[in-house]
Amino acid sequence: MYKHRVFITEDQIQARLVALAEQLDRDYAGRTLNIVCILKGAAVFVADLIRLLHIPVILHFLKVSSYTDGAESSGTVHLHFSSVTDLEARHVLVIEDILDTGITMDYLIKHMTATKPASLRYCVLLDKPERRKIDIRPDYVGFEIADYFVIGYGLDYNELGRNLRYIAILEE
Ligand code: PRP
Repeated sequence: MYKHRVFITEDQIQARLVALAEQLDRDYAGRTLNIVCILKGAAVFVADLIRLLHIPVILHFLKVSSYTDGAESSGTVHLHFSSVTDLEARHVLVIEDILDTGITMDYLIKHMTATKPASLRYCVLLDKPERRKIDIRPDYVGFEIADYFVIGYGLDYNELGRNLRYIAILEE
């Protein structure tokens, strides 16, 4: 495993999730919420969050990637897999692990808008506003963070680290 130091503890994550779930329960009271989990990174976050919700939830999965040249996104997003079924006139919440440049979210907004939902909102566990290239503001944010390379709780480096129970900063 890569050398890392704990940045956001398991307890901090779980406490934030309880608050987020309470907010979602209030905002979507009386409705069924269609959650679109963006693979792979959001899988752990979504698995924990949905078990804190009291509103009815329908779960969908979507896998996208933005090919990179070095550390920077190429700006081209590819859709690899979708389990999304009819979302027309439904309430949809897209959930991501991290919002960085906004290129992926910009693609997802266009992709999901085409399904004609009744409402469309975005939730991210981690928001790195200083990295933004496209002006996108998520509706729900777990933690706003500075420009650290983070792993754990779904986030990886070379596919490792997703199973850490906390979020950590990768050390050289
Ligand atoms: C990460 C993350 C977002 C995207 C955010 O995905 O899950 O989808 O990058 O970056 P952006 O705002 O600059 O577009 P990644 O390609 O690492 O895939 P993964 O979730 O499967 O690890």
